[in-house]
Amino acid sequence: MDDSPHLSQTSPDGPEGTGCLASIPRACLFAGTTPLESMPNLASYCGGPSLLVKRDDCNGLAFGGNKVRQLEFYFGAALSENADTILITGAVQSNFVRLAAAGARKLGMECHVQLEERVASTDAAYRVSGNVLLDKIFGATLHSYPEGEDEAGADLRLQEIAAGLRTAGKNPYVIPLAAGHPPLGALGYVVAAAEVLIQIQEDKIHVDEIFVGSGSGATHAGLLFGLRALGSPIAVTGVCVRRDAALQKPRILSICDQIATLLQTGNKVTDDDVQLIDSFLAPGYGVPNQATLHAIVTGAQTEALLLDPVYTGKTMAGLIHRARHLQDTDSTLLFWHTGGIPTIFAYQDAFEKALRNSGANPDTTQESAR
Ligand SMILES: Cc1ncc(COP(=O)(O)O)c(C=O)c1O
Repeated sequence: MDDSPHLSQTSPDGPEGTGCLASIPRACLFAGTTPLESMPNLASYCGGPSLLVKRDDCNGLAFGGNKVRQLEFYFGAALSENADTILITGAVQSNFVRLAAAGARKLGMECHVQLEERVASTDAAYRVSGNVLLDKIFGATLHSYPEGEDEAGADLRLQEIAAGLRTAGKNPYVIPLAAGHPPLGALGYVVAAAEVLIQIQEDKIHVDEIFVGSGSGATHAGLLFGLRALGSPIAVTGVCVRRDAALQKPRILSICDQIATLLQTGNKVTDDDVQLIDSFLAPGYGVPNQATLHAIVTGAQTEALLLDPVYTGKTMAGLIHRARHLQDTDSTLLFWHTGGIPTIFAYQDAFEKALRNSGANPDTTQESAR
């Protein structure tokens, strides 16, 4: 392994129950712990349980987000191989891509990003603002890929770009998209599970259920795996943002199995542990519905939270729905803020429409905002 100054360790031994986590290379992209805050204004708006937010939008690198935690392990692998260039593929407004471009700069590397046509957006800002603008400011080399649902093809194209870079004397590292690769990024959320359990213990609070966006599934699976490995029964509800619950469930179970293999330990996640709601997914990935836009406006106007139309807005819509319908007002729900803030600026038309209709019914789930 390289002795790069950027490589860090989880802790000398790693949290008990998480196998060989501490020996897996991890780059340092942010130091410390993200805040765990209460949301009293949103709780009184919902009129139900206590509400908390875990602020992974505040984790320090380039507007932050869940992908910072995931990238620590991909960059760890890249540094161990002495890579000088990172390659990544994602949607045009991908947060993963923006944070890979940022992380590469922080660690002294080049970055090539491939932007896939996943969302048929008509918003003029979609192709030029938000994450696309930031990718350019970080000096990433941009490539485009015409398909949005061709994970294997997008990976293959990245490998071709990497081969060209090798011929030019570079040492590239490719972050893969398709399933079937060791889920290194999910390990960031095994670490995060240990972190939140310490906060819960120190604050002497009780958490019944965590709401988190479920896209590739790395965040959801890592968190669930970590909680169960560490002996916590807290429920984790994944709010589907990419595919419906029937397709997402086997994906989460499979990532949990792969995490266990990677960590050389057992997998304590059961079928019943994988809870998903997909009622805020429509009309599809990257297109916000009325409830999502309403949830974003509500989060901003009650707790000054900035939420995005692709991931955290849908997740917040799920949390608000649960909070408003839960009978047990003694329970505590935790919203895991996974970032995505720059995307707000790529959806200007949708927001202007939402603000005109900001009295809309938050439980309307199917109506497209367009
Ligand atoms: C802001 C944000 N939240 C949630 C997710 C979903 O995370 P995952 O892909 O690990 O399921 C993503 C994925 O890109 C994201 O960018």
